[in-house]
Amino acid sequence: AEPAPTYRIGFSQCTMGDAWRQAMLAGMKKELSFYPEVSFRMKDAHDDSRLQRQQIREFLREKIDLLIVSANEAEPITPIVEEAFNRGIPVIILDRRTTSKLYTAYVGGNNLEVGQAAGNYVGSLLRGRGQVLEVLGAPGASPAVDRHQGFVQALAAYPGVQLAAQLHGDWKRPSVIQHLPALLRRHPEVDLIFAHNDRMALGAYQVCKQLGLDHRIRVIGVDGLSGPHGGIQFVEDGILSATLLYPPGGEEAIRVAMKILRKEAYAKENTLSTMVIDSTNVLTMKLQTEKLAGQQQDIQRQQQLLQQQRDTYASQQTVLYVLAAA
Ligand code: FRU
Repeated sequence: AEPAPTYRIGFSQCTMGDAWRQAMLAGMKKELSFYPEVSFRMKDAHDDSRLQRQQIREFLREKIDLLIVSANEAEPITPIVEEAFNRGIPVIILDRRTTSKLYTAYVGGNNLEVGQAAGNYVGSLLRGRGQVLEVLGAPGASPAVDRHQGFVQALAAYPGVQLAAQLHGDWKRPSVIQHLPALLRRHPEVDLIFAHNDRMALGAYQVCKQLGLDHRIRVIGVDGLSGPHGGIQFVEDGILSATLLYPPGGEEAIRVAMKILRKEAYAKENTLSTMVIDSTNVLTMKLQTEKLAGQQQDIQRQQQLLQQQRDTYASQQTVLYVLAAA
């Protein structure tokens, strides 16, 4: 028989409404398959900070052993996460931060660096001259704040490049489709759009195309997901000039969680690195991610086979017991 679960991990996820978060969860599940003693539960807050607070409170009532949280907005989620931490529950912040230092570990990209890398890339792509429009992520989410700050910092080294306009998005494409046309009409001089993720970048490209501006305005995004609707494919198709890789970190989060739960040594800050993906390296990136996906499928097949063998063995054991008792 299976041993009773020894650890309960609760994952408070700000939203599950996009492929990046689905890739995150897939990574978690893959890693969790190595730890059958863990019971894992996720609560999806659907982009709603109030709901997320409530769900974390539920997790505390359900007596979890460790909390993983991706905070929809930093401020409103901070008090309840601090409360969990102060009650002695280890807290892993995954991707979107709170405003507090009271957490056990962070896993995710460094968004200040993501913004800086974007700014440096833009500066050199425009050869030091041009007008830029920034499409930000949801206000109050830490990656939007940090990506913006890093972007502005890096652009300061290029006095000929101006941040001409800003659009406050919500990480989703429809908001960009809706509000960008009017903004572009007011700023016809824009040469490049930096969007805080690839979904909004795709929306920006579609607007430019509709206005007949797609050959003049270049678009850059963040995430660099693999797959047919991911940023890597958009770069290969010439829809985006570049994307900044921002790994979802699902596997890493579970690995760090297990170290904490097993009282092994762990790092407080687990920073996943970023890189520019553009036409010069996109094919290499694509080949590598496809190879990785293939290997992950192999691992999954092996695990299924192993499970089948365990099941067969267990049923044979039962037959033996029955025979011995007869
Ligand atoms: C997915 C997402 C990503 C973005 C990240 C920031 O929900 O919007 O596109 O990089 O969240 O937290």
